[in-house]
This record gives sequence, structure tokens and C-alpha cells, in this order.
Amino acid sequence: MSKSKRVIGVLISGSGSNLQALIDECSTSAFPARIGVVISNRSDTFGLVRAERAGLPNYWLDRQEFDSNEAFDAAICDKLREHGIELVVLAGYMRLVRAPILKAYPEAVINLHPALLPSFPGAHAARDALDYGVKVTGITIHFVDAEFDTGPVIIQEVVPVHQNDDEETLLKRIHKVEHRYLSYAVKLWSMGRLQIEGRRVKILPKGDKFREDI
Ligand code: GRF
Repeated sequence: MSKSKRVIGVLISGSGSNLQALIDECSTSAFPARIGVVISNRSDTFGLVRAERAGLPNYWLDRQEFDSNEAFDAAICDKLREHGIELVVLAGYMRLVRAPILKAYPEAVINLHPALLPSFPGAHAARDALDYGVKVTGITIHFVDAEFDTGPVIIQEVVPVHQNDDEETLLKRIHKVEHRYLSYAVKLWSMGRLQIEGRRVKILPKGDKFREDI
């Protein structure tokens, strides 16, 4: 089984609680993927500590050292290739992913967003949901295209907003759901069970078009 695991690269900018959920899932022998590299665009992230503790190759790449956003993403892409990465997972990565990565990984870059897109895109989704006064928000996992938070949706799940919530309590509830579903999305991709048709992503049943070796 372990030989046939797909290899994922995780890009982070923050505390990496979603990275940790992936690390935990990937440590089980039945999970069809393993993490090949973790890359952060910030030096002081707890996510890098988590990667180090798990014994995973990890890097901080500093945007300031590159002439352009494209050159920065080309350097990330080199690292991904160096580690044999097949799927790129943005787990709290707070930058737009550009052509070098998108071209190298067609239909193989996924992002996690703490709201039900297309509602509340951007960096403050939970705060924006609270400010708007919605009664439910949620999580979205989607394929990445050239814009922020716009690619085809793979999975969404609802998270209730409680009337005494502040940003912290709401985010805590959202994170619990994210941790569960991010691993599930990686599993589906790894099993070849995601099929993009325009804006729609079909989840194929087991035994339809899935990898025979899993
Ligand atoms: C998550 O809520 C994710 O949806 C958003 O950034 C947050 C990252 O959290 N894009 P963590 O670093 O995984 O704890």
C-alpha cells in the first residue's frame, strides 16, 4: 500500500492546524497519500515547527528575495518537483498562486476556505460572516484557478453561527470541520475520484473510475 501513495506538497502561511490534520491522517497506512514537502512563505510559522516535528522536509521561501511573484512561484514549483509532488494543497496559504504552479499542476492544486464560497471570499471570512449577521457559514474546499477563492468547488459543509460567537469561537468551530474535510478531499483526489466538468466537480463512486491499486 505505502508504495502506491500519492505525494502531496502543503503550502502554508500560519499555524498549520490543517497541516497537522493532514500529517495525522497521512500517518495511517490506509490513507492513500503522504506529505512530501511543506513550504511556508513566512519564517515564523508554527506550521514549520509541526513539519519539522513530523520529520517532513520543510522550507521557508522569502518573497523579498525574488524579483517578481512569478519568479517566487517558479522557485516554489522547483521545490515541489524536487520532492516528487503530485498534488499541491494550500492549507492556510495566504498568497495568490500563479502560472508557474498552476501550469505544472493542472487540476492538482486545492485550497481550503473558511466560508461557503462565493460568500465571504478573502482573508477575513469568519469576521465578514459575523459582521453580515448570517446564521450559518461553513467551509469550502475547491480547485485553484488564477483568482482568489473562485475555482470549482469540491466539498462544502455548513457550520452554524451561534449568537454569542466572536471571531475566535466561530473560527474554532470552522477549523474542526476543516480538519475533517481537507483530508477527505485529499483522499478523493488521491483515489482519482474527482472529475471536473466545467464549474462542477463530480465525486465518483468507489469502483467507478478509481485507481485499481487502492
Ligand atoms: C484556515 O481557516 C483556512 O481555511 C484559511 O486559513 C486557515 C489556516 O489555518 N485559508 P491553519 O494554519 O491550518 O491553522
